[in-house]
Amino acid sequence: MVSESDQFNLLYSLSFTLFLFSHFILCYTFLHYFTKNKLVMTKVTVVGSGNWGSVAAKLIASNTLLLTNFNDEVKMWVFEETLPGGEKLTEVINQTNENVKYLPGIKLGKNVIADPNLENAVKDADMLVFVSPHQFMEGICKLLVGKIKAGAEGLSLIKGMEVKKEGPCMISTLISNQLGINCSVLMGANIANEIAMEKFSEATVGYSQHKEVADKWVQLFTTPYFIVTAVNDVEGVELCGTLKNIVAIAAGFVDGLEMGNNTKAAIMRLGLKEMMAFSKLLFPSVKDSTFFESCGVADLITTCMGGRNRKVAEAYARNGGKRSFEELEEELLKGQKLQVPK
Ligand SMILES: NC(=O)c1ccc[n+]([C@@H]2O[C@H](COP(=O)([O-])OP(=O)(O)OC[C@H]3O[C@@H](n4cnc5c(N)ncnc54)[C@H](O)[C@@H]3O)[C@@H](O)[C@H]2O)c1
Ligand SMILES: *[C@@H]1O[C@H](CO)[C@@H](O)[C@H](O)[C@H]1NC(C)=O
Ligand SMILES: *[C@@H]1O[C@H](CO)[C@@H](O)[C@H](O)[C@H]1NC(C)=O
Ligand SMILES: *[C@@H]1O[C@H](CO)[C@@H](O)[C@H](O)[C@H]1NC(C)=O
Repeated sequence: MVSESDQFNLLYSLSFTLFLFSHFILCYTFLHYFTKNKLVMTKVTVVGSGNWGSVAAKLIASNTLLLTNFNDEVKMWVFEETLPGGEKLTEVINQTNENVKYLPGIKLGKNVIADPNLENAVKDADMLVFVSPHQFMEGICKLLVGKIKAGAEGLSLIKGMEVKKEGPCMISTLISNQLGINCSVLMGANIANEIAMEKFSEATVGYSQHKEVADKWVQLFTTPYFIVTAVNDVEGVELCGTLKNIVAIAAGFVDGLEMGNNTKAAIMRLGLKEMMAFSKLLFPSVKDSTFFESCGVADLITTCMGGRNRKVAEAYARNGGKRSFEELEEELLKGQKLQVPK
């Protein structure tokens, strides 16, 4: 038997629950609408869409979906190419969510939008990730002058430097000077194809002044299989990423000449010491500790074992120097670029 007062209590608590529930839904919708669509939505564009550019877009796109302070959509500027079948690369990326030329077989995420128009791709971005081969960056920067949003933050994933008459210029400095924006860097033991398959690796963000901006870059890139640490040494991090590519050429020669593992280890050790000495000569502010981050010794090791510079240098030595680097680059890398100062 249920008394009248019990019935009343039951009804009362039921309607109260409903009342709470509907309020919860209302509040949730309201908050979601404002945080996700209106107020603090940071927009991200990736400038470049090669092997590493595509993987970077994948990492970022998986995070913008999870993080409430970022717009879901990630734009990726694609240097337009016509594929052997006659289709445009951009359209194929858009339709299949896959960069069939530079990262075949890997889904980038439905929220990655390919755009062949550089100006259009960058115009609304608050955070710009630069990841083209270094030799194209000067030209890209010229096209971008005056086209980017005021206060936008830059991040360079580019390993290399421009060597000018006045001396070497780091790519982040080129970006920062030409576009008038802050530019941090992200480097590390990051062979793109391995990260594409979600195999564990680490990376280093190098920043010069603003820790809170560096933390936002760390947040944007970190996944369970990609662990990012920020250090206050932008030049050190960028020089590590750049100079290890030269040591990797020597490592490739050792492989081609079949000189053995001990010799290769010696090349890596001596190479690391030279990287440190050379970096400090260019920028006395460079810290020793930076060389023990992912961008330093770890990137040196992975590049000397598996990188593309090593591969082409090995072929060069095996051919007794009779075939040029340009010819071997073309044949072995299929549109990807060697990472050497030009
Ligand atoms: N691939 C890796 O494993 C890896 C890892 C870490 C860092 N990086 C660095 O990332 C940067 C980009 O390398 P990647 O592997 O993404 O590129 P990539 O070598 O795979 O691809 C070449 C890219 O250059 C573009 N391109 C060709 N001609 C061009 C032109 N005239 N103007 C502009 N773009 C043009 C192509 O469309 C393509 O997107 C490099 O600095 C590299 O050192 C690469
Ligand atoms: C790519 O996709 C977006 C969003 O679906 C669309 O607006 C754009 O026109 C597409 N661009 C190309 C080149 O296919
Ligand atoms: C660099 O970043 C800081 C911190 O966000 C900001 O105050 C400053 O205006 C930025 N500089 C440029 C040139 O955007
Ligand atoms: C290094 O050692 C491995 C395992 O013994 C061997 O397969 C490889 O050929 C060696 N590398 C060189 C450069 O001799």
